[in-house]
Amino acid sequence: MRETYRNRVMNMFASPGISLSAIEASGTKIKTLEYGELIDFQSGCWAAVLGHNRPEIVETIKENVGLLLHTHHFFDTEHPGALVEEITSAANLKSSYMGSFLSSGSEAVSLAVMLAELITGKHKKLSLSISYLGASPSLRIPRKADEWLDLDIVECLNCTKNSSCSACAKFSSVNFSQMAAFVFEPGNSGGLVLCPPEKLITFLAEEIRNSGGFVVVNEVTTGFGRTGKWFGFQHYGIFDSEASSPDFIAMGKGLGNGYPISGVLVRSNLAKKIEATGFRYVQSHSNDPLGCIISKKVVEIMKNENLVEHGNEMGVYFRSKLSEISRKTGGIIEIRGRGMMNVAVLGKSYNAKETFKALIDKGFFTGYSEIHNFIQFYSPITIEKEDLDALCYSIELILQSNQAIDGD
Ligand SMILES: Cc1ncc(COP(=O)(O)O)c(C=O)c1O
Repeated sequence: MRETYRNRVMNMFASPGISLSAIEASGTKIKTLEYGELIDFQSGCWAAVLGHNRPEIVETIKENVGLLLHTHHFFDTEHPGALVEEITSAANLKSSYMGSFLSSGSEAVSLAVMLAELITGKHKKLSLSISYLGASPSLRIPRKADEWLDLDIVECLNCTKNSSCSACAKFSSVNFSQMAAFVFEPGNSGGLVLCPPEKLITFLAEEIRNSGGFVVVNEVTTGFGRTGKWFGFQHYGIFDSEASSPDFIAMGKGLGNGYPISGVLVRSNLAKKIEATGFRYVQSHSNDPLGCIISKKVVEIMKNENLVEHGNEMGVYFRSKLSEISRKTGGIIEIRGRGMMNVAVLGKSYNAKETFKALIDKGFFTGYSEIHNFIQFYSPITIEKEDLDALCYSIELILQSNQAIDGD
């Protein structure tokens, strides 16, 4: 990028300290000026679940962009309703849902929370302190204690007690009757890939519902096949029936495969109650036809090509290869993952940032955390074994050499 232009962009994140100028992207690959072609183990910003510039999606955009891109909200089109129907049937959702579509994941989570507050008349929400819910002031961490109760459940992750969570002192002071909703993010946990245990989620969902609150699932990252199922909440049996399906499902990222569209599905009975209150909520981009058309194509491709199952199989294969590397090199001390949402935690003598840089040199773009010393892999779910084999070969070489050990 020309230096004069670079100086016009306000930086809002910690940069890895290397220059990465993107030129074009296709499938699992992104071409850069500095490093040539990289396999994208981040799917853009975890959104391009089908890979970049999927030809059928590009065609769909070309065919529709000149027809109806955006409308005033007074206009009806068939597209948002058709999308709700497509998602409900493809993901085999157990309840009937109505929905509405916005632009960003944060907006979708905010709207779901706002609706739960509206129909309960309560304003406090329950969530987990490991759950990232969005960038807007009311969702970002640290959340305000007068609005949110964020449970610290880190010790629950490895709980082996046989007793019910109701017997645990940790929850004895929680006043469930104050809560409009339990806002459950099923396992991305801000990129840490910490999946809350089933027993705990069953307990919290039941308590909330018994006290008149609702369950909002935040599927912005865990939706659309990321975790090896259509939605992350489907790993939890408590939600697997008509009566117990989530009340609100917030989605984003994979919904548009990189095109900015998000949405909220609301159980139809609740949606009708909400409509009857006369509640009004308008944004410039609500139910934009083009976004809905694109998302419908995303869902069709995922369904027709069984990509959720494919992503799940690739995840199992990938974690087995990482375990092999762990045994051979001792450089990986923990592997966490579901589907193609994975992290490999490095041993103390290895440096995640250096490993990240060494992987870029070898043609792989991953995520990393310096604080938690892990490398993060959220590839498109279309990834094939050859790409995973190539990545694992390089990880092994890097961990066996001293590249990953040297600091800055
Ligand atoms: C779990 C989760 N919720 C909400 C968001 C916010 O979505 P957006 O960045 O599209 O506003 C993100 C984004 O990373 C996320 O991972």
